[in-house]
Amino acid sequence: MRAFNIFAFLFLAVLISNSHGGVNIFLNISCVEFNATLSTPIYETPKAAMRECVEQDSCIGFKKTSEYGYQTLRGLTGYVINEASEDNYLWDQTGGEIFPNQPNELEYAIFFAIFKNGNECPLRFAVDGTLCRGNTAISKDICDTFPSYMVPQWDGTTCFVVQKQTILNQWA
Ligand SMILES: *[C@@H]1O[C@H](CO)[C@@H](O)[C@H](O)[C@H]1NC(C)=O
Ligand SMILES: *[C@@H]1O[C@H](CO)[C@@H](O)[C@H](O)[C@H]1NC(C)=O
Repeated sequence: MRAFNIFAFLFLAVLISNSHGGVNIFLNISCVEFNATLSTPIYETPKAAMRECVEQDSCIGFKKTSEYGYQTLRGLTGYVINEASEDNYLWDQTGGEIFPNQPNELEYAIFFAIFKNGNECPLRFAVDGTLCRGNTAISKDICDTFPSYMVPQWDGTTCFVVQKQTILNQWA
């Protein structure tokens, strides 16, 4: 319950439009750090990072990495709670649909960012039967960062998680 209360008031939306005229929402989330890959270009303002992010298919958000430096992120797998952490921005992919049994707002936003590519499996995963199979870039350490509702399993060489629709069915 404590964690939920922290998140309930630390979501702040920042809006920016992309070159196609659509409006994009970035959630400015405190107290968490994302497990994702940092891209190397460094932007001087949040706005510059957002502008870049909305033009990249794989971008899931960005973070402040130095006093005047912001870097975009891709390949989100999960997050860790860190109460000292600020200036983490998640590109909102939720679309506003509410599921009756979804977990808290943060989990919900993280989930849609993990599946941002629109497929049944996250980036770097392929459909394998009823599951998603990670490629060789997904180490055991990365596998362990997926949220528990994605049931990450490591079989000794490969990471498996459940598919998007399996989770949405549980939240319906
Ligand atoms: C995001 O939140 C942090 C911490 O509350 C704040 O310092 C920062 O100015 C916010 N960023 C924007 C773009 O509003
Ligand atoms: C996940 O993120 C946390 C916080 O940034 C970091 O300490 C941890 O090493 C990350 N784990 C992986 C596997 O990237």
